[in-house]
Amino acid sequence: MKIRAVSAPNIALIKYWGNRNEELRLPAADSLSMTLDSPTVEVSAESTSNFSVRSIHSDGSERILTERERSRLENHFLLAKKYAEKLPSSVSIEIRSNVPRGIGLASSAAVFSALAESYAAFIPNMSRKDVSILARLGSGSASRSVYGGFVAMHVGEGSEIDASYAEQLAPENHWELYDIVIAPSIEEKTTGSSEGHPLAHTSPFFEKRLRELPDRQAMCIEAIRGKNFDKLRIVAEVDCLDMHAVMKSSTPPLKYLSNETERIMREVEALRAPEHLPVLYTMDAGPTVHLICEKSALSSVSEYASRQKNCTVFETKIGSGSSLL
Ligand code: PMV
Repeated sequence: MKIRAVSAPNIALIKYWGNRNEELRLPAADSLSMTLDSPTVEVSAESTSNFSVRSIHSDGSERILTERERSRLENHFLLAKKYAEKLPSSVSIEIRSNVPRGIGLASSAAVFSALAESYAAFIPNMSRKDVSILARLGSGSASRSVYGGFVAMHVGEGSEIDASYAEQLAPENHWELYDIVIAPSIEEKTTGSSEGHPLAHTSPFFEKRLRELPDRQAMCIEAIRGKNFDKLRIVAEVDCLDMHAVMKSSTPPLKYLSNETERIMREVEALRAPEHLPVLYTMDAGPTVHLICEKSALSSVSEYASRQKNCTVFETKIGSGSSLL
């Protein structure tokens, strides 16, 4: 039986940075995101006797995985088997991704949520919560791409494999939001988030961040429930800059934002001010800027994005999460 699944990245509005258990990717705090409709990743999984993986570019050519990438995928399968013992003894997987990797566009969230979706299909009666736990074992943020719309990750308690999982706050039709993604560079970053999370604890600002997160998470939930864009903008931008302050002050420091990122942030502030355009910026672990906006700001934001030289632009909107094909 060959199982096929599709998924897409999500963009965090309250960021996940730092774990309390690295191996199981149990986060140090709650987080919250909006799932995107594109770019997509398709995977297939088939029961076999030996683990194998193939990765295919969007143009159909084969991408040779590094040993680290291969072992991360195998390790994910082995952890998934710990959680769901009825999984086949091994699998052969194929990944077809349209998401550029390592630029702050959550490519791993899309890959591991799609894989979790396909692994869950081997076992009867798996719940969405189970799928989100399976996804988390490969990439913490992947557990949020399992759902559409607005999704909260619950930190939970303790160190059991199922202690943290994601849950949908509101479906994609609750609030029509767009994410115009501007990638100043599609070069893969040198420190991926898996290597970055363990450094969070070395930042002198991390404890303060953890203390402030519950209030921010609550404010973000309120903003989403009430479709209050100003409230969402304030809390999402504060949280994004706070995560990057933690990253920059860790040992060694992680500087994901570039001069281009800073320039775009300042220009967007200037663009939105006169007419109070509903657009906010946020960045994950990379220089890529996500401009999240309401429909009334879409044409101005798209027009601004199309004027960016040497940048790759993705026009996305709120999406429906991972599913079987
Ligand atoms: O899921 P990971 O290990 O790739 O971590 C994602 C971290 C951020 O993208 C920076 C924030 C987030 O919440 O998605």
